[in-house]
Amino acid sequence: MRQVRTLGLLGTGVIGGGWAARALHFGIDVIAADVKPEMEAWIRGAVANAEGALSRLTFAPLPPKGKLSFTTDLAAMARQADFIQENIPEQLELKQRTLAAVSRHAPREVVIASSTSGLMPSDLQRDMECPERFLVAHPFNPVYLLPLVELVGGKATSDLAIEAASRFYTYIGMHALKVRREVPGHLTDRLQEALWREILHMVNDGVASTGELDDSIVYGPGLRWAAMGTNLIYHLAGSETGMRHMLRQFGPCLKWPWTRLEAPELTEQLIDRMVEGTRAQAAGRSIRELERLRDDYLVAIQQVLRQFNIGAGATLRALEERLYEAGAAAARGALLAAAAGDSPGALRLVETEVRPEWVDYNGHMTDSRYLQVFGDATDALLRYAGVDDAYRRSGRALYTVETHVTHQAEARALEPLYVASRVLEVDDKRVRLFHALCRGRDAAQVATAEQLYLHVDATAGKAAAMDEGVRARLAALQAAQARLPLPPEAGRLAGKAR
Ligand SMILES: NC(=O)c1ccc[n+]([C@@H]2O[C@H](COP(=O)([O-])OP(=O)(O)OC[C@H]3O[C@@H](n4cnc5c(N)ncnc54)[C@H](O)[C@@H]3O)[C@@H](O)[C@H]2O)c1
Repeated sequence: MRQVRTLGLLGTGVIGGGWAARALHFGIDVIAADVKPEMEAWIRGAVANAEGALSRLTFAPLPPKGKLSFTTDLAAMARQADFIQENIPEQLELKQRTLAAVSRHAPREVVIASSTSGLMPSDLQRDMECPERFLVAHPFNPVYLLPLVELVGGKATSDLAIEAASRFYTYIGMHALKVRREVPGHLTDRLQEALWREILHMVNDGVASTGELDDSIVYGPGLRWAAMGTNLIYHLAGSETGMRHMLRQFGPCLKWPWTRLEAPELTEQLIDRMVEGTRAQAAGRSIRELERLRDDYLVAIQQVLRQFNIGAGATLRALEERLYEAGAAAARGALLAAAAGDSPGALRLVETEVRPEWVDYNGHMTDSRYLQVFGDATDALLRYAGVDDAYRRSGRALYTVETHVTHQAEARALEPLYVASRVLEVDDKRVRLFHALCRGRDAAQVATAEQLYLHVDATAGKAAAMDEGVRARLAALQAAQARLPLPPEAGRLAGKAR
């Protein structure tokens, strides 16, 4: 199976657009193919729209963005792509025919995946050439923010294809959930439909409005579901004996008529109630407005879950770990190249921009964000030296002892920024760093930070010598950078003239 540099998309509607935004953001080129030429403008708009929320998801260093191209020639897309994701309408016969056609043009080692919400992979791969490279990879809307993708193989699918797909989706920040065997609706849509069928019954019977039913989830179980599913949550609800107690106590209710399996008839009256109900809930807000709101809270929730290393937050953390490591590896390479050329300068490990929410009432970047950016630069530099998640899990860490920030120029919203970092001093327990925050457009220095860190054994709660390898890397960097003139801000007291 190939390393994926170019993703081919078949069908560029809501789901195709979401795949494009996610892949491009994480450095994969995308060739989008649709039968309708007008979808080019649509997918470019969808990608631009997704970028706002996506760019706030993580501050870890990202590879350069991928390039987007569009074609109505499905065969041309199939010949150029390293991996193909199909997202055309949910019609079995149409998908079978189109997938078979595409499989005749795609080299045999190219994996072909379908975003189908519920069709069976064995049916979809029936007429394909090399059907062993086909699987279902079912994402969730918005694909660019929700990490779940269900992987389902059909009768002819090889383990190799599932593994290759799993690697690719993980690379673009997703949680690949392998479904053991194919069932209509896979896992998640079966659960979602069970809930939705019951909602339709309750609205049909006049028991509750769409808004009341949504409240019954949003204010309660929905909050729990973001990090623990129904099973683990019920285990907690069963006191000391957990799930066993829960099943003994509430198991008999499962036989009572609380829920129904058959959906109600979709009469005009029921459709009207559903439409009127959701229109009232939208309260005059457009779909676009509601999407922005949804995207903003999805980003915020994942960032909170990241602190607990749970659910989608664990996926985000694993992604960031890889991105930071890739950034550190690139920096090591750059340093070696610079040393060979006899001028290792300050390391540029963090590139970012002033996010609109970082700006204060003066229209400039607010104080706390300087600390955040300098903190990110320190993290990146220490990671470069070998202080990664595994190092921290071993109970060792570098604690901030002192920080001195100087402010020298303004940074306005969306201003591109970078941080140039240096090691000024290092011994076995301490390291003194110096960061210069500069504007991307004119390299003007916006602020500096000098920071002193103490290496600690967090379990013992006291200072301890750092790992030899970490210290050696920091010392090598300091020696290489010693040729640079000492920054005038280094060692200055606040208020002292320059
Ligand atoms: N919308 C969702 O929430 C969601 C979530 C997960 C999975 N899915 C699945 O993703 C797939 C696409 O759904 P969508 O909501 O993006 O649909 P959509 O209607 O928004 O987009 C489908 C696109 O496919 C194009 N198309 C039609 N026939 C084609 C062909 N032969 N070749 C190339 N392009 C063709 C259409 O022009 C259209 O742009 C479906 O299988 C659906 O079940 C949808």
